[in-house]
Amino acid sequence: MTFDVRRFDIYRKVPKDLTQPTYTGAFISVCCCVFMLFLFLSELTGFIATEIVNELYVDDPDKDSGGKIDVSLNISLPNLHCDLVGLDIQDEMGRHEVGHIDNSMKVPLNNGHGCRFEGEFSINKVPGNFHVSTHSATAQPQSPDMTHIIHKLAFGEKLQVQHVQGAFNALGGANRLQSNALASHDYILKIVPTVYEDLGGKQRFSYQYTVANKEYVAYSHTGRIIPAIWFRYDLSPITVRYTERRQPFYRFITTVSLSLCL
Ligand SMILES: *[C@@H]1O[C@H](CO)[C@@H](O)[C@H](O)[C@H]1NC(C)=O
Repeated sequence: MTFDVRRFDIYRKVPKDLTQPTYTGAFISVCCCVFMLFLFLSELTGFIATEIVNELYVDDPDKDSGGKIDVSLNISLPNLHCDLVGLDIQDEMGRHEVGHIDNSMKVPLNNGHGCRFEGEFSINKVPGNFHVSTHSATAQPQSPDMTHIIHKLAFGEKLQVQHVQGAFNALGGANRLQSNALASHDYILKIVPTVYEDLGGKQRFSYQYTVANKEYVAYSHTGRIIPAIWFRYDLSPITVRYTERRQPFYRFITTVSLSLCL
């Protein structure tokens, strides 16, 4: 008796002359190919797309910054002359700067009746405030008009990333033109450190913030207190971190092979 290894073949072939193409078979085959193509393309798009993972932790992510945060402020006061407008910065480290002028610009508006203040400055990573007022003017006006529009208030590097809808310029567009002209405004900001790491591992440091605000006319026993637009800030100990991720190539290959086998 001869021993034939072919007995172990579980994929036995039907002789060619016994097979016959049918319309049903052709239809099913075309459907299968379309379905396989669909699976392949959806796996491919999943592989190409980057996903953004976010996490929270307690840390100071940007330790090399020397404990400083860059601030960019752009605000218009349409009824206050540029000679009167000034920015003062104060904080719990003892800083008290009146009439900050470095890297800032005052643009006259409304034929000189108003002013736009555009400034870049840095603040320490301790609670403090900066405020726009007439405090630095040589002579105080009778009734300074503090109505304003904030075009921009942002901290840290500019993050231009799709899909991350954070509050990087939460006060941008704040319009207080209809407010009482003599009122003071308090914006109370909670600044949240934010790190964005792209696919190449490059990190960018920025800050988001939430804001609460109130407006009031303040008096003391000597009379009305000079109004101001206050930005009082505090830092959150929690950092938000966004990381771009791409699916590993081996997973793409295995899912593609699996879906093609099915
Ligand atoms: C400040 O905001 C005004 C109004 O939106 C804009 O025209 C101006 O270019 C801004 N300035 C800077 C430095 O971005």
